[in-house]
Amino acid sequence: MKIAAMGDIHVGPKIPAPVKDAFASVPRHANVLVITGDLTNHGTPQEIAICIGLLRTIQLPVITVLGNHDYESGMHEEFGQQLRDCGIHLLDGNTCEINGIGFAGTKGFCGGFTPHQLMPFGEQDIKDFVEASRSEAEKLYHSLAALKTKKRIAVLHYAPVRATIQGEPEAISPFLGSSHLEEVIDRNKPDLVLHGHAHHGSFEGHTREGVKVCNVALPVLYSKGGPAFAIFDIGNSDSYE
Ligand SMILES: [Fe+2]
Ligand SMILES: [Fe+2]
Repeated sequence: MKIAAMGDIHVGPKIPAPVKDAFASVPRHANVLVITGDLTNHGTPQEIAICIGLLRTIQLPVITVLGNHDYESGMHEEFGQQLRDCGIHLLDGNTCEINGIGFAGTKGFCGGFTPHQLMPFGEQDIKDFVEASRSEAEKLYHSLAALKTKKRIAVLHYAPVRATIQGEPEAISPFLGSSHLEEVIDRNKPDLVLHGHAHHGSFEGHTREGVKVCNVALPVLYSKGGPAFAIFDIGNSDSYE
């Protein structure tokens, strides 16, 4: 099965032309579309309506997670409901199965990477922040563990490893992802992890246990000279085009 993947499409008052083109051509290249969050710029009702309109144009199963930008206007729950109402598989600690391939996912959160990740020490605000990060990782763990399919794909917005944020300023790395996600990925060992968020990051990396991780944020795909989606052939030597 061929999976088209893209992230950070950031739909605003206007849909970026390459995104429009990608939605028109993806069905010729893939059986399913995965979008790794930041569907909108600010998650406003207007942007949500435009994004839903775009998603309705595609005649493929679509799997997505929300990104931090989709939370900006506090409309994320309404956005999620609208996505589900139009048949989109929104992953938030749950799973779906398409053509025998299992998908599990959640937004994820930040907090940094070992050995420099934020620890739950001191003020309650810090402990709450770290708990938010751990809670997202737990959601990923349980959803991956629930999948019984031979092939399993994890979908995130935030990065689980440092490798795919390489290219971003080191100072902001704690805000781009969390090693808590890597820990639960390595306990479950899915076949592939897709994420976005790090616009200036790198396309491919691996967890400590060797699980392949790909950052499909649009600017990363463009920097490779490719179209606004990457294609993964899963089940057929798991290749990348
Ligand atoms: Fe983004
Ligand atoms: Fe983001």
